[in-house]
Amino acid sequence: EDDRLSRIASAIRVIPDFPKPGILFQDITTLLLDPVAFKDTIDLFVERYKDKEISVVAGVEARGFIFGPPIALAIGAKFVPMRKPNKLPGPVISEEYSLEYGTDKIEMHVGAVQAGDRALVIDDLIATGGTLLAAISLLERVGAVVAECACVIELAELKGRDRLGDKPLFVLVSP
Ligand code: PRP
Ligand code: MG
Repeated sequence: EDDRLSRIASAIRVIPDFPKPGILFQDITTLLLDPVAFKDTIDLFVERYKDKEISVVAGVEARGFIFGPPIALAIGAKFVPMRKPNKLPGPVISEEYSLEYGTDKIEMHVGAVQAGDRALVIDDLIATGGTLLAAISLLERVGAVVAECACVIELAELKGRDRLGDKPLFVLVSP
């Protein structure tokens, strides 16, 4: 277990000053280059969620699309993409969230998730928590229960976890 987590942590590359000076970017593309660490990442989530009666895995564009689908397939849940604005062709519901400067939006197809669905929200990383909060809100607006949010990485010093209130958050590594 600790072996798996330390291999995952070492496979994530840290790039200083990207995309802006002063930001230490956590780059999961190097984790994807290590098939053992990538599989361990998916396995750790699958082990946690396989018997939790999750009916839908919701992944947040873009990096939630990498980790969400293999988890959904392994636990027998549907996968629902939460996309950046104006990408989904059908009727959508959208939720705005705040960024460091300004706001952004994520959208979900109407009908993809229904009342009674039990959801797991997946993303690569939680920073301020704004993205996960918007995802939770979309799911709850259509009557789903959000069982948990899960990320590979938590930037703990930004206290995004506190913004999620009583929603459980599961993370693998906190650099
Ligand atoms: C990054 C990251 C999370 C989000 C976390 O995505 O992948 O989705 O920021 O930040 P928050 O907790 O402060 O909301 P980004 O919006 O940069 O886009 P991408 O995944 O499409 O690269
Ligand atoms: Mg993202």
